[in-house]
Amino acid sequence: MGRRITLDEFIVENQTQQDQASGAFSGLLRHIGIAAKIVNRIVNKAGLMDILGVDGNVNSSGDTVQKLDIYANDLMIEYLQNSGLCAGVASEELDSFVSFTNKFNRNNKYIVVIDPLDGSSNIDVNISVGTIFGIYQRISPATDELQLTDFLQKGIHQVAAGYVLYGTSTMLVYTTGDGVNGFTYDRGIGEFCLSHPDMKIPQTGNNYSINQGYYKQFSEGIQQYLDECADKSMMQRYIGSMVADVHRTICLGGVFLYPRTINNPNGKLRMLYECSPLSFVIEQAGGLSINDQGMRIMDIEVSELHQRSSIIIGSSKNVEGILKYLE
Ligand code: AHG
Repeated sequence: MGRRITLDEFIVENQTQQDQASGAFSGLLRHIGIAAKIVNRIVNKAGLMDILGVDGNVNSSGDTVQKLDIYANDLMIEYLQNSGLCAGVASEELDSFVSFTNKFNRNNKYIVVIDPLDGSSNIDVNISVGTIFGIYQRISPATDELQLTDFLQKGIHQVAAGYVLYGTSTMLVYTTGDGVNGFTYDRGIGEFCLSHPDMKIPQTGNNYSINQGYYKQFSEGIQQYLDECADKSMMQRYIGSMVADVHRTICLGGVFLYPRTINNPNGKLRMLYECSPLSFVIEQAGGLSINDQGMRIMDIEVSELHQRSSIIIGSSKNVEGILKYLE
């Protein structure tokens, strides 16, 4: 077996091929990779470290905070700050964005949005969780203080996005707008190694992924679509960790849906931290991502940090096939 290219090597090689990939941008991706390794280590031995369970608080998005959410959040922010390459971060776990004010960071042109530990309610029962990130260029001049508007950007303005899946193996998958590549963590050498070059989602697939328990809360159109899936004996798969459900969808084809419900009339998932980054990845893999009104997620205006959205994301033919059921 030949030697596999590491994430660092891949980033450096790509840096020379891409106009927009300055050294700073590549360095930022590398630091996200380093932080992911540490989160991975902690997630793996969480049961031994008294860091399972709830923290006792509710975050800005209204979710119950787990101890590991806080750990992953603080660690990611610390690494992004120490990278000296990022001007600030908005996190699903924080009410407001964080501006890095030290002299190494304040003039940087990139900002990061992050869901440090997506699906964390699964962690106590040893089910896969993930980290999701998106990178944007700031809008305000690098000499000024960061503004809220630096973060309220549509998905189409992302310069990179990706996720880390802490699953049966740990994978980092990302795009810089030139396809999608996946790296599997090799514990033996402590590196992410290229294992899934140029990932493509099948154009169609037999899996559909949705929390079927909300059936009665969905619109009539979504209910009809689900009835049709059942009539066709399609495979229903739902982990409840978006990263894991979307990763399976990329690998096998099919569709992941989190539509509006009576309890979550705007959808549950967060535009900045979950929907936009995963939409960028899936589009770059050849798929589609829309909300349950048929609008492309990446084109939707963002007006608040914790804005929620419905989402239908997956194989192009599956997503197109759902359009006729939407209002
Ligand atoms: P959390 O990080 O609070 O566990 O939320 C997980 C997210 C997402 O990853 C998943 O797809 C969805 O919420 C699951 O929501 P339901 O439990 O409502 O199905």
